[in-house]
Parts: sequence; structure tokens; C-alpha cells
Amino acid sequence: MKEIIEKLTKRPDSVTYEELVDILRDPAIDEDLFKAADEVRKKYLGDEVFLRGIIEFSNVCRRNCLYCGLRAQNKKLSRYRMTPSEIVERAKLIAQKGIKTVVLQSGEDPYYMPDAIAEIIQKIKGFDVAVTLSLGEWPESYYRVWKDAGADRYLMRHETASPALYAKLHPGSSFEERESHLLTLKRLGYEIGAGCMVGLPGQGPEELALDLVFMREIDTDMAGIGPFIPHPDTPLAKEKKGSLRMSLKMIALTRLLMPTCNIPATTAMGTLHPRGRELALKCGANVIMPNMTPSPYRAKYQLYPGKICIFESDDTICASCTVRLIKSVGRIPSKSKGFRKRGIENELVHTQHPCQ
Ligand code: 5AD
Ligand code: SF4
Ligand code: FES
Repeated sequence: MKEIIEKLTKRPDSVTYEELVDILRDPAIDEDLFKAADEVRKKYLGDEVFLRGIIEFSNVCRRNCLYCGLRAQNKKLSRYRMTPSEIVERAKLIAQKGIKTVVLQSGEDPYYMPDAIAEIIQKIKGFDVAVTLSLGEWPESYYRVWKDAGADRYLMRHETASPALYAKLHPGSSFEERESHLLTLKRLGYEIGAGCMVGLPGQGPEELALDLVFMREIDTDMAGIGPFIPHPDTPLAKEKKGSLRMSLKMIALTRLLMPTCNIPATTAMGTLHPRGRELALKCGANVIMPNMTPSPYRAKYQLYPGKICIFESDDTICASCTVRLIKSVGRIPSKSKGFRKRGIENELVHTQHPCQ
């Protein structure tokens, strides 16, 4: 056991798919893994935690991902679209609170595409913040327009790197397409954010190890990892939710495999467990994304049930709450834009990929 932890710490590129499956299967290794991930995070990234203010500006979606409450076929959800000026105003508020990244997230909603988004980006860039997009799959020409408008990063979780499971969960699309979008975004100069859910029906250690190998292979700049939480108005309503331990394990392994990757303590972690985000920060995570969606829209962005931070009264509270949370685990809220650290991977011993 000691040996595999040492390999993960010193030569993460040489850890094989089979070894990752074994680690994911073995609960006896968990505590050592969490500790090693926390040490690697501290060594490479220090104690700063990056804040990203997220605006969920539209819950309209043209797709039908089986797990998601925003899926087009969910007729029970009341839909909203924020206006461009509402979005820009909100971004200004995020900047005024000293948060240096604005994340614009929505369902796959054709309404704003691509020009309204470009104008919104241009205006928000005037507030001296980094802009992250999380808008789903669009033609390359749109990604270009948005990059030219000043967008810095793009979140597009790969959701699962098992092509068979991906096809089951995403009617009409394939894992191959997903991968090609991520590669296009990377080529265009975006920092990219892949990531997956943990505990999807039909997903075991073999599938989760595929996620880890995939993220390492595309060298993702960010990795959003959180438990699957069944939504009552979706075809997966009766499935089991993902486990806290396995989610933490995936975060820890991602940190060990990619020491400088930016890894958020996701909202889904906080929804699964009252201290889920704190635990994530202690197992390798170094980012937190306060929800800055204004009420009354916020409650309607229901990817999964029980999502935390739904208040009617003060819709800016998450900004101060996350700062407190960061401090409560002995870390430092960062004042920077939080781009991925570059150039220190050389300290690791690089080996050839086992397949080459
Ligand atoms: N449980 C957990 N995460 C979910 N997401 C969507 N639906 C669910 C769910 N039921 C995640 C997906 C998506 C991100 C925005 O939210 O991974 O990429
Ligand atoms: Fe739409 Fe994204 Fe939900 Fe899929 S996960 S249904 S693309 S909002
Ligand atoms: Fe939203 Fe704490 S982060 S209330």
C-alpha cells in the first residue's frame, strides 16, 4: 500500500489504469490517500483557495441528459432567462465583492447564442475579472467568438469517460463528441474544465478509473467532481445517490494524478453532506464557487434536489459564507484570478504512458 501511495505522489504519470481500479476498490487505502492528496495540494498550490462567483443565468436546455433536472422533457420546471443587463449587473456585484472570476452557466439555451454572450463577456471583462463559460456544446465558431470577446475558461464536464455509459445517459450524443469539444476548446486557448459525476447508475471502479485516466490524458486545467444525486422528475429518480467517500476518493486521486489542476469543492458535495465541501478542501480541492445567481431564479436552477444555498432573503450571502468556510479549514481566500499554475510539474519524474 505504501508503495502505491509513493508512486502516486512521485510518479503519477506511471500509475496504470489497473492500479487505479484496485485503489478505487480498496477502502483500506482511503485515509492514506486523502492525506497524500492534501500534502500534494499544499506542496504545489499552497493554502490559497480560489473563489469563482457563478451566475446561473438560464435554466432553459435543449438536451435531455437522463440525470438532470433541467432536461428539456422535464415539464414540471418553470423556466427563466436573465436579461443581458441583469447578468452584467450581477457580474459587477461579484467583482465588487473582490471575487476575481465570474462563471456564466446555463442549460444549452440557443437564445443568447452567440452574439448576446459575446457582448456580455466584453462588458464583464471591463470589471477586471477572469470569465469562465459553462454553456454546453456549440459550434467551434461560437467558441472562437467568445474567446475573441475575452473569455478565459470553459467548463464542460465529460460526465463519464465510459463511452457505453455516456451513450445511455445522453440521448443522441457520444463521448467521442464530448471529447472533441474539449479538445477544440483547448486548441482555441481556453483553460478547460472536464469532470465527472460519481455514483452514476452502472458506474463502478472500472468506469471511474476511466475518468481519471481521461482527465490525466487531456491534461485538464480544472476538474469538477461531485456525487450523482437523483432528481425526482428525471428517468433516474429511483436510482441510488453517489457516496461521499467515493467522491472524496476521486477528488484525492485527481489531485495526485494532476498536482496543479484546479479542483473545486463542488456544490453537490455540500448537498450530499453538511461538511462535504470542507472535506473536499481537505482531500485535494483548492477552489470554491459561491452561488451568485439572484433570487428568484436561483431556486429554479435545479440540476438535482436539495441544492444548498437557496435563500429568498439575501442572495449574496454565499460570497461571505464561502470565505468563512475557507478560513474554517485553515486556508486562505485568494484574491487572484486563479489561473492554473504552470511550470512546476517538472519536479515530477515523467515517464512514458504505459500504452506507448
Ligand atoms: N446530480 C449531480 N450532478 C448533476 N449534474 C447534473 N445533474 C446532476 C445530478 N442529478 C451536474 C453535471 C453537469 C453539472 C452542471 O451538473 O455534471 O455537468
Ligand atoms: Fe442540459 Fe446540462 Fe442538464 Fe444536460 S446537464 S440537461 S446539457 S443543463
Ligand atoms: Fe451558499 Fe454557504 S455557500 S450559503
